[in-house]
Amino acid sequence: MDPSIPYHEAAISKLQNGSLFIQDAFIDGKWVAKEKKFDVYEPSTGTVMGQVANCDRLDFQTAIQSASTAQTRFWESSTGASRGAILRRWYELILSNSDDIATILCLENGKTFAEAKGEVTYAASFISWFAEEAARSYGVTIPSSSLHTTLWTVREPAGVCGIITPWNFPAAMITRKIAPALAAGCSVVIKPPSETPYTCFALTKLAVEAGLPSGLIQVCPTKDREASTELATNPTVKKISFTGSTGVGKMLAKLASSTLKKVSLELGGNAPFIVFDDADLDLAVEGAMFCKFRCSGQTCVCANRFYVQKGVAKEFTRKLVEKVSALKLGPGLEVSTTQGPLVNKSAVDKVQEHVSDAVQKGAKVEIGGSAPGLSGFFYEPTVLSGVPREAAVSKDETFGPLAPIFEFSTEDEAVELANNTEFGLAGYFFSKDVGQVMRMAQRLQVGMLGINTGKISAAEAPFGGIKESGYGKEGSLFGLAEYQNIKAVTLGNTQLGA
Ligand code: SIN
Repeated sequence: MDPSIPYHEAAISKLQNGSLFIQDAFIDGKWVAKEKKFDVYEPSTGTVMGQVANCDRLDFQTAIQSASTAQTRFWESSTGASRGAILRRWYELILSNSDDIATILCLENGKTFAEAKGEVTYAASFISWFAEEAARSYGVTIPSSSLHTTLWTVREPAGVCGIITPWNFPAAMITRKIAPALAAGCSVVIKPPSETPYTCFALTKLAVEAGLPSGLIQVCPTKDREASTELATNPTVKKISFTGSTGVGKMLAKLASSTLKKVSLELGGNAPFIVFDDADLDLAVEGAMFCKFRCSGQTCVCANRFYVQKGVAKEFTRKLVEKVSALKLGPGLEVSTTQGPLVNKSAVDKVQEHVSDAVQKGAKVEIGGSAPGLSGFFYEPTVLSGVPREAAVSKDETFGPLAPIFEFSTEDEAVELANNTEFGLAGYFFSKDVGQVMRMAQRLQVGMLGINTGKISAAEAPFGGIKESGYGKEGSLFGLAEYQNIKAVTLGNTQLGA
């Protein structure tokens, strides 16, 4: 690339479909430029990659009103099959533009191009899944206890949905929410992450090209917290779906309770990753590499605490360090990069705090342990051994490339350590003992569990946590119901005729 042209500008100028790079809001079927804008940073250089419309409260109100009108029309004029067909066209368009979407995603988020491409495919898989589910939104007939009475249920759309998504999966967290919403016959008002809004704009443009009727999708980027709370308080919004921190999730749930909206919350995690003495260590290391270093450790389901049984702790650590030493930090678009930057400077500081705290309490740095001298928000993939129980990382999610290894002796001890957290999103363990597999599957308090694998995310798998990791399930056969109301219909006195 020409060094005189900023990295992101060079990459954007090479998009096959340059019209996918948009900086405006999408309100009432139109792209809207705003005088007030906010900066979006490119994490691999720390430089500004663009300026995006900063919506105010009035924009949210306009979007919500337009979404409401569109939703009524949509529900009255579509079938599950026709909604599925629109989603299917959207899916095809995303796949045929996947290189461009991945480039935009890679620039704004920092993850490697290979990961970004993988995310685009993952994001599209939710659309194809719910395109099919749209036509299978069954009700039931229920034998009535009254004579001459028929009782049945129908599933109806919740209405206007407020969608608030995070920066770590700029494509997949949007599609995992709005594909089921649209399949159910809802409309959506999205507040995309202010760190990574561009992928959402590109996806929205393709949804419109796929034939999504005007008004069903609205995008209001903003950095103004006050403005976005409109989504949680406006009585026309009937459902809020949020992925992000537990603190913000609790605040949204409180705000949404004033009008008793339906709420789904996918919040923080603190996933335990347990390796028992009899585990296949190569498999465990492969699982660890995936679920710790995917997106540079910035996923809610990343392993946060490694509990390794004493008999294999040394060997597991050695094998993990060997794999970590092969990782290469760099900008996501460089072919040789295997680990991109973190999202911003405070993310880097958080990893450093966890490392320093653990080391000060007696942990040993096996590899990594500092921010390298690169421009941008990088932190070295890090493994710590001998981490004491009282280290901050045992309680608090790092959201970065830090693998802290704690040792344990017995299964009971592993269970107690793993469950000793207010979070309950994901967990992982590796064992060859069938009895132990069955016991552990029951004893670990999480919403999602990986046994002898670090890969648990898929369109067909119910995604969501328990405890303070939130409630509601995304994807899977359960995902559609989050955007629907069940209506019970009783038809009485059928002996009288109509
Ligand atoms: C997340 O980090 O919230 C999503 C991760 C995934 O879908 O695998």
